[in-house]
Amino acid sequence: MRKPIIAGNWKLNKTPHEAILLTDELKRELVDVEGVDIVLCPPFIDLADVKEALIDHNIALGAQNLFWEDAGAFTGEISAPMLKDLGVAYVIIGHSERRQYFHETNETVSKRLRAALKHGLNPIVCVGENLAQREANQTFDIIKDHCEGSLKGLSAEEMKKVVLAYEPVWAIGTGKTATPAQAQEVHAFIRQWLARTFDEGTAGHVRIQYGGSVTPDNIAALMAQPDIDGALVGGASLKAPSFAAIVKGAQK
Ligand code: 13P
Repeated sequence: MRKPIIAGNWKLNKTPHEAILLTDELKRELVDVEGVDIVLCPPFIDLADVKEALIDHNIALGAQNLFWEDAGAFTGEISAPMLKDLGVAYVIIGHSERRQYFHETNETVSKRLRAALKHGLNPIVCVGENLAQREANQTFDIIKDHCEGSLKGLSAEEMKKVVLAYEPVWAIGTGKTATPAQAQEVHAFIRQWLARTFDEGTAGHVRIQYGGSVTPDNIAALMAQPDIDGALVGGASLKAPSFAAIVKGAQK
């Protein structure tokens, strides 16, 4: 039985002051929730304040990216040991916005993933097709390419530490959610790929989140699908009532 995992990706939103306010509100809303892993992924600059606000709470902290080198002359970058030292538990890797705007490729996703695993961070690796690719019937080819390219060379034990997020690019921030059946189809494809590439045990263990216009209204139908194990939430994670409702909707 896979434990549901709901992560809020705040993207480029919330100053440190706003981040503390949102975290305090979330703590109140989520204090009684059990059976769901909850992760907040604020911008780097908010991590220390959110960490402090989360002391003695079961909500985990995640970053939105990391660099693959541990230290050195890489102006503007943040490394895995730095995140680990701060108490960060998760890190999003290869989000489509990073692939689209910051030239992220399978190659760089793979390097970041190795750095995260080396330092004991839990990676959330994103895969997903864009609208043109879906309309050209290339969805499964793209998903296979992202999985093969990003996860290549992992052992089954390493793979078990990874959370995958299926985020169809056409559903991100557009209000167009994939239907539960559309999402399930791709999640099942990813799980079959995991079984072929690693083994059945690994495929059964890895959690696969869905991301793309998740709201309190659609979370239950998504979570009812056998291969959907949680959500990576953008817009609806920026307000405490909607994110809390999504977390509660994920309690299976
Ligand atoms: P939205 O929930 O705003 O569509 O964003 C999804 C996403 O990209 C989460 O990483």
